[in-house]
Amino acid sequence: MAILFLSEADKTDEWAGALARELPDDEVLIGPEAGLARAADIDFAVVWYPPPGLCAKLPALRAVLSLGAGVDHALLDPDLPRHVPLVRLIDPALTEQMAEWVVMNVLRHHRLMPAYAEQQARAYWKRHDIPRASARRVGIMGLGELGRAAAKALAPFGFPLAAWVTKSRKWELGEIFAGPDSLGTFFAHSDIVVCLLPLTSATRGILSADAFARMPRGAAIINGARGGHVVAADLIAALDRGQISAATLDVFEREPLPADDPLWRHPRITITPHAAAITLAETAAREIASNIRRLRRGEAMVGIVSRDREY
Ligand code: GLV
Repeated sequence: MAILFLSEADKTDEWAGALARELPDDEVLIGPEAGLARAADIDFAVVWYPPPGLCAKLPALRAVLSLGAGVDHALLDPDLPRHVPLVRLIDPALTEQMAEWVVMNVLRHHRLMPAYAEQQARAYWKRHDIPRASARRVGIMGLGELGRAAAKALAPFGFPLAAWVTKSRKWELGEIFAGPDSLGTFFAHSDIVVCLLPLTSATRGILSADAFARMPRGAAIINGARGGHVVAADLIAALDRGQISAATLDVFEREPLPADDPLWRHPRITITPHAAAITLAETAAREIASNIRRLRRGEAMVGIVSRDREY
């Protein structure tokens, strides 16, 4: 059978090679045209922003596998077949990168690096007192693969940790706040807020004026999830008022972030170009191939998305 690779953002040659090495008995087809020409032969689609309607035209399709941890890009296709599983990517290499990025940025905010960068631009020498890590509360939104790994990596520094999740659960690393009713209290208990949520209809715009107002004055925001979680105009207003002291953003509603977007030039916003955790062909192809082999053996795949929950 054949695997169809659909992504305009990833390096096609690397992926074709990596998938072919992992699945030597399969043919790897690249791009929508190849897919339509051989529609009947394709049993798996490996996708990042698949062209809407394309997967629905593959009669032998058995699963749609996301090239990212998030699957919001695939759910934008209104015709994405519901009778086959949609699977998120769980790749230890991706998870590790995200944990590094979160630790780096929590420490940057904890140690007031955004303020010092602003001072350096003015050649202005002034030291600020900071609390010990044990008095700097870090609130993590989302305890999936990425949120759990980020929390585990942060724990040794001694930050009091909290997590906001949809459904209550036991968590040994900190306090759990579950469900929409506890969101305000979670924000009020978080000096640094790290967003690692999936983007769904329930989480879109969750970091809004109301959220910023509930956080302690001077809280910092770190978004490694999706641009749609943050209401950018509300964030800029909260930064300008000093309610939020600084923000680090890796993801944006429009990517690449347009050159004239005010987020680029705000002195207390740090931007990385959706680079917190980059899917690597070599490791990700291994995980994707393992899932394909699982399904072919009649076993359950890892990372199946609930279409109702949207993650
Ligand atoms: C990247 O944004 C991902 O979903 O892994």
